[in-house]
Amino acid sequence: MTQHIVTLIPGDGIGPETSAAMKRVVEASGADILWEEVPAGAACIEEFGTPLPAHTLEAIKRNKVAIKGPVTTPVGTGFRSVNVALRKELSLYANVRPIFSLPGTGARYEGVDLVIIRENTEGLYAGIEFERGSEGAKKLIALCEEEGVGKLPHNAGFSIKSISVTASENIVRYAFEYALEHGRHKVTAVHKANIMKYSDGLYLQVARDVAAEYAGRVEFEERIVDAFCMNMVMNPAQFDVVVLPNLYGDIASDLAAGLIGGLGLAPGANIGKDYAVFEAVHGSAPDIAGQNKANPTAEILSAAMMLDHLGEHEAANRIYDAVQAVYSRGEHVTADIRKVGLEQTENANPATCTEFTDALVEELKRKETL
Ligand code: NAI
Repeated sequence: MTQHIVTLIPGDGIGPETSAAMKRVVEASGADILWEEVPAGAACIEEFGTPLPAHTLEAIKRNKVAIKGPVTTPVGTGFRSVNVALRKELSLYANVRPIFSLPGTGARYEGVDLVIIRENTEGLYAGIEFERGSEGAKKLIALCEEEGVGKLPHNAGFSIKSISVTASENIVRYAFEYALEHGRHKVTAVHKANIMKYSDGLYLQVARDVAAEYAGRVEFEERIVDAFCMNMVMNPAQFDVVVLPNLYGDIASDLAAGLIGGLGLAPGANIGKDYAVFEAVHGSAPDIAGQNKANPTAEILSAAMMLDHLGEHEAANRIYDAVQAVYSRGEHVTADIRKVGLEQTENANPATCTEFTDALVEELKRKETL
């Protein structure tokens, strides 16, 4: 069996707990992974003066593949997001977030099986901003007046939304190639081109051009983002592969996670041409951090995606099967799970993060001896 060296960033909040669970499950899957553990996030600012130390970035570049727990980003002030920095530094342009129903989760929907593909490098997320009252903000206000495109309020802050042909083409092509590779039949491009004609309009035009190259092989449809949200809530099973600009993809991922039972169940991957960083959709969940309550499923499923990426398909499948089995039995599910169903109000006797992980490891070992 090939040994793979993988960079592991445990992260903040519940990250160390879900990462420890993930490591146990990967080990029980039979995959041979050597973890190179490096820090990132709020906790390492004191020691390294930055939430993303240079040696962490170097480790990912050296090993090419990483898995990370969530990292806290202060709202409004403080450092910019480690996640955004990583995606930019490593050109991780595609954020892939499979959303599928698991049995026994008490989720609002069954039979959901779609993949959100989110553009990861530009749009409002790029962090190009002008603070209220800054010289840059004043120049921007003056420019808009000069150009006659509109009068901006003098006491406003600004975030620039840019959508490029290059990034749009990369992400839409990725979505179509993903569909072909994974036997999926339809790509839906989501936009707000009716209002933002020069940004989303450009994205939509590029999407149509790329879609034409795949005509006859993969179906293509377009949805305006607000209607898309309503359609997702009405009937999520109608979607297959969904490709969205950065911010819409971020919001749609959490919405989609809510349909299948919550953030504890939604895995993800950030993919570039040279590097791949796997991580759950959820954040650091400070409200439950350090209490052994976190659901590690999302990070464990992210690890299964990582094993597939590394060519370790058997180990990945063993993890998917074990997760299905543990949820089917429903004896060991964490507190977030039974609360989400419409009829279920309480998970009277929830499993801890450790107990859930024990059940998964047990299941993997049981299969091994069959
Ligand atoms: P969150 O995803 O951390 O939490 C939202 C809610 O879902 C909370 O009630 C939390 O307890 C629950 N939750 C999330 N994951 C769970 C899990 N695995 N098991 C059980 N319950 C879970 O989102 P929030 O509160 O908006 O963000 C907290 C911090 O995380 C912020 O600093 C944010 O910037 C950061 N964040 C980091 C991400 C990353 O590193 N990839 C992604 C999203 C947010």
